[in-house]
Amino acid sequence: VSTSCIGKSLCSWHALLLPCLFVPFRLPCPPRPQAADISIERCATNKPKPDPSTLVFGKQFSDHMLTICWSEKGGWEAPQIKPFQNLSLHPASSALHYSIELFEGMKAFRGVDNHIRLFRPMLNMERMHRSADRSCLPLFDKGELLECIRKLVEVDQEWVPYSQDASLYIRPTFIGIEPSLGVSRAGKAMIFVIVGPVGPYFATGSFNPVSLLADPSFVRAWRGGVGAYKMGGNYGPTIAVQNEAVKKGCQQVLWLYGEQEEITEVGTMNLFIYWTNEKGEKELVTPPLDGIILPGVTRQSLLDLARSWDEFKVTERTMGMKELMSALDAGRILEVFGAGTACVVCPVGSLLYKGKTHQIPTMQNGPDLAKRFYKELTDIQVSSPNNAAAS
Ligand SMILES: *Cc1c(COP(=O)(O)O)cnc(C)c1O
Ligand SMILES: *[C@@H]1O[C@H](CO)[C@@H](O)[C@H](O)[C@H]1NC(C)=O
Repeated sequence: VSTSCIGKSLCSWHALLLPCLFVPFRLPCPPRPQAADISIERCATNKPKPDPSTLVFGKQFSDHMLTICWSEKGGWEAPQIKPFQNLSLHPASSALHYSIELFEGMKAFRGVDNHIRLFRPMLNMERMHRSADRSCLPLFDKGELLECIRKLVEVDQEWVPYSQDASLYIRPTFIGIEPSLGVSRAGKAMIFVIVGPVGPYFATGSFNPVSLLADPSFVRAWRGGVGAYKMGGNYGPTIAVQNEAVKKGCQQVLWLYGEQEEITEVGTMNLFIYWTNEKGEKELVTPPLDGIILPGVTRQSLLDLARSWDEFKVTERTMGMKELMSALDAGRILEVFGAGTACVVCPVGSLLYKGKTHQIPTMQNGPDLAKRFYKELTDIQVSSPNNAAAS
C-alpha cells in the first residue's frame, strides 16, 4: 500500500486495508479514484433547459458537476456528483499562479435510438492522463474516471439535447490547488467535470468556409514545449493573436512554425490538406505528432477512416508555406480543412499571408472529402451500433 492509499480516502476499503497495516506485506493499491465510491447529491430543483436554437458554445451548464479531490497525504478521495456550484479556492492555488491546469473536450450524443453515447472517450482519458503526467499532477485510473463521467452524464441525461445536430459538451478539468507559492509539484489537486448543451457548429447543410491569417511572427507551440498537451497555458496567449486576425478581416489563425514556416494547426483544430501531390497522386496530408501538434481525437478518426477506405494516399508529414503556396499556384490544392470536436470538419476558404489574400478552392471542390468525413463521423456519433455506419 503506497502512502497515497492511507488516509481519509480509505472509505469502503478501510476494512480491507486496516489489517494489512499490521502485517509485513501489503495489498496492492486499488486504482483511484474509484467510481464505485461515488456519492451523488441531486439538485432540489432543475434549471430550465435552454431552447436548442439559442445555444451559445460554453455558456449554458447542466444541473450537476463532478469533483474528485486528491492530496499527497490522503490520495484520491471519493468522487462526488453534486449540484453545479462555484469552487472555493485558496488564493495561492497553483493553478491560478503557474497554470497548473489542463482540460479535455468531448461530447455525448443522443442517438437515433435515444441511447446516449460518448465518442471514443478513452482517447480523451489517455490524452488527459498524458497531460497530467506532464503537469506533475497525480495520475488516475482512466477507466474509473470515465465511469465517473458516465455517471455524471447519466444524472444529467435530460441535458443531452433531443436533436441530432446538438450534443452535450463535456469539459473535464484538472487543476493544482497547492495552497503555496513555491514553483513545485502540487501537493493538492482537483479534477472537476462540467457539462453543457451545445448546438451544431454549422447550421444544417451549410458548410461555411473560414478565412485564415498566416503570420509567421506568431508561434503557438514549439519543439520541446507542451503544445501536444491540452494545458490551459497554451490557449490564453492565443487570444491576442486571434484578435489580430479578426482586425485583419480573418476569422481564425493558421499557426506556422520555424524557418520553413511549417503549417501546424488552425485555431484550436488540427489541419488537413487534400491535394494532388508532385507525383500526381491524390493525397491527404496532416502534420505529424512531433510535439507541436495537439493529438486530436477527430484527427485520429479522420486518419483511421481514410486509411480504412484505402482510396487515396494518407500521409502524416510536415508541409511548409512555400510548398503549399506553389501547389496552390499550380492548382493542385483540392481541399483544406480544420478538424476538431466542436465542428468535426471546418473548410478553409482563404489565407492572408504576407499581406496578400490567397483563395483556397475548398468549396469549389465540394468539398467532397470534408463533407464525406463530416457525414461518416456524425453518422457514427448518432447511429445505433446495429447500424452499419457505426460498425
Ligand atoms: C482540442 C484541440 C484540437 C482538436 O482535438 P479533438 O480531440 O479532435 O477535439 C486540435 N488542436 C488543438 C490546439 C486543440 O486544443
Ligand atoms: C459564483 O461566482 C460568480 C462569479 O464570481 C458570482 O457572480 C455568483 O454570484 C457566484 N454564485 C454563488 C451562488 O455564490
